[in-house]
Amino acid sequence: MIADRMVLAGLALSLSAQLPANAESEFGRLVAAPGVEETFYTCTACHSEMIIAQQGLSRPDWDELLIWMVDEHGMDDPPPDERTIILDYLAAHYNTDRPNFPVE
Ligand code: HEC
Repeated sequence: MIADRMVLAGLALSLSAQLPANAESEFGRLVAAPGVEETFYTCTACHSEMIIAQQGLSRPDWDELLIWMVDEHGMDDPPPDERTIILDYLAAHYNTDRPNFPVE
């Protein structure tokens, strides 16, 4: 039910917009920013978002990792536009300088 998910995601985003950057939100430990809902729903089908938040990769390395998720772990290849949104999100917020590394 894509439509239901989008309504929920929109609601969650408007709520989480009031939270500080590194706080728990409807998207767990993922930073609330454009692309978070696509990333969250695509990636947490199999594992915690914490595994993403702890990772710091360049955009090409995230690209490789998405290929790995599809080829080796059975992730559905996202549609191209959604894939770009997810890559942009990951590269912006979970790059090698680890700007949002979760602090316990
Ligand atoms: C179909 C299931 C599935 C989906 C969907 C999925 N993953 Fe994974 N992912 C896995 C499995 C299984 C592992 C454990 C791999 C291992 O360490 O052997 C994993 C591990 C990881 C790791 C840790 C890699 C490491 O070096 O240990 C990262 C980062 C990751 N996934 C990111 C993502 C992102 C980002 C998405 C969404 C775009 C995603 N995953 C979607 C199955 C999935």
